[in-house]
Amino acid sequence: MRYFGKKSMMAAALLASTSMASAADVEVLHWWTSGGEAAALNVLKDDLAGQSIGWNDMPVAGGGGESAMTVLRARVTAGDPPTAVQMLGFDILDWAEEGALANLNDVAAAEGWDAVVPAALQAFAKHDGQWISAPVNVHSTNWVWANKAVLDELGIAQPTTWAEFEAAMAAVKAAGKTALAHGGQAWQEATMFDGVVLSVGGVDFYRKAFIDLDPEALGSDMMVEAFDRMATLRSYVDDNFSGRDWNLASAMVINGDAAFQIMGDWAKGEFLNAGKTPGEDFLCFRVPGSAGTVSFNSDQFAMFAVESADARASQGAMAASIMSPSFQSAFNVVKGSVPARTDVPNDDFDACGKQGMAELAAAADSDSLVGSMAHGHANRASVKNAMYDVVTAHFNGEYDSATAAEELVTAVELAQ
Ligand code: GAL
Repeated sequence: MRYFGKKSMMAAALLASTSMASAADVEVLHWWTSGGEAAALNVLKDDLAGQSIGWNDMPVAGGGGESAMTVLRARVTAGDPPTAVQMLGFDILDWAEEGALANLNDVAAAEGWDAVVPAALQAFAKHDGQWISAPVNVHSTNWVWANKAVLDELGIAQPTTWAEFEAAMAAVKAAGKTALAHGGQAWQEATMFDGVVLSVGGVDFYRKAFIDLDPEALGSDMMVEAFDRMATLRSYVDDNFSGRDWNLASAMVINGDAAFQIMGDWAKGEFLNAGKTPGEDFLCFRVPGSAGTVSFNSDQFAMFAVESADARASQGAMAASIMSPSFQSAFNVVKGSVPARTDVPNDDFDACGKQGMAELAAAADSDSLVGSMAHGHANRASVKNAMYDVVTAHFNGEYDSATAAEELVTAVELAQ
């Protein structure tokens, strides 16, 4: 398979010739360790292998990438940064501000990235007008994944409103099954909170609270209602949810042990990896009440500034490869995400992927596309972590909903 287009070849040749070097291995730090994620990563590894670029794997498990970012900090502090790092949103900008990232302008210009990468992604892939990372995908967090056989057996239709969703969960629980598969980790609760806040208050409220950090919105009655919905969700998880990894929660839905999971579309990668088909075995739909809005996060590969010319050549080749249209299709079909460029045909995508692509474009056009709070696209890590703490403490019963909204105001204020 050839993902490396003619222009990519030219870009790589350009970088190689300016540096007069041959390609070196790339050392890639990432947190793609689940079955579906590893399958997607293999698409990238194989693509680079086809160009004789070796892969030095540096996996750091933990959805959402918190642990990966801790390891990265330690590596950079020790003066030994990896060549390429999976990164999200504001983390990329933080590293760029520290002057740690390589400039990808040559390859971006040769490949015409400016014209094809949506503005919402460029906001995180460029710093001071310089390209500093290559976006590999667009995920979104306000999705629900459902086991179709479980719903059919109980005569439950796909819920379209929050009330219907609650009724569906109640019916599953009454039938003795787990209604909501969930892993009790702060980032997973925050991921659910993205969709819940959109479902309660819509995109304007989400923006005011999560992006503008408006204390009135953070402490509002609407926020109290969002926490109430989280408490409702808590009442539908099983007893063993604490600490569970997200892909094990997906497996509960895949195996029919649970009906629903609220999770970003990387969950689809797990269903596909288990041989399941959308519409037949599982359903994908937006968190009820949030249809028409999209909370997105984009995995990007930031390249760290390195001395060696051949390492720089490999970084350029990897960046060019990631951005080629055929690679964007092949990778995202497996990963569950959608392409990070607007000109990739949807032919190879399944029904959920086609829906995701259409909804992303529509949300961008109607100003209903917002960065995921849970995945570092709404605010910097300090604010994100402050929100995580409150959301997870409430989910675990430490605060009632009114107290949680008050705590959110205080925590966010202190984190800025
Ligand atoms: C997200 C990332 C996804 C997926 C997920 C779970 O932060 O954007 O690609 O890996 O974590 O690990």
